Amino acid sequence: MFKVVTKSTAETEALGERIAAVLSGNEEIALFGDLGAGKTAFTRGVCRGLGILDGVSSPTFALVNAYRGKYQVYHFDMYRITSVDDLFSVGFYDYLDTGILIIEWSENIESELEDDAVRIRILKSDDENERVFMIEGLDDYADTIC
Ligand SMILES: Nc1ncnc2c1ncn2[C@@H]1O[C@H](COP(=O)(O)OP(=O)(O)OP(=O)(O)O)[C@@H](O)[C@H]1O
Ligand SMILES: [Mg+2]
Repeated sequence: MFKVVTKSTAETEALGERIAAVLSGNEEIALFGDLGAGKTAFTRGVCRGLGILDGVSSPTFALVNAYRGKYQVYHFDMYRITSVDDLFSVGFYDYLDTGILIIEWSENIESELEDDAVRIRILKSDDENERVFMIEGLDDYADTIC
């Protein structure tokens, strides 16, 4: 695990871009963090790093948004998902290994995450423009990402 601090939305997007550069196309990226933590901003950066330049927003109502860039990306928002039954009914398991999965509100489906998922916890701090990212599962790339 390693930690990255960002001091603006743009820095969070840039962090997402650096992470995009080390992905191979079928990772599960589980995002944890409160309302307004920056999960969607981070996702926008990852997508930009994959050449997906617009249209990235919280899929709160759609549950999942699909984007195609260098790799296929499925962007989930689990805010309203509270049970494994719900996950089955939205077909979540069919997406595994079909692209990069980026999952907002992973708190709600933690027991269903893959063992090797990349886990990213985003914490707010006293400064309203600062966020702390605790990143698990990408230690081999820490030098490139930091
Ligand atoms: N360092 C930072 N990184 C990311 N966002 C920041 C930062 N500083 C301020 N912000 C602001 O915080 C908000 C983050 O919003 P965003 O939609 O990305 O959060 P979210 O975690 O996806 O929330 P939700 O749970 O509602 O989907 C934006 O308004 C953004 O401008
Ligand atoms: Mg969001």
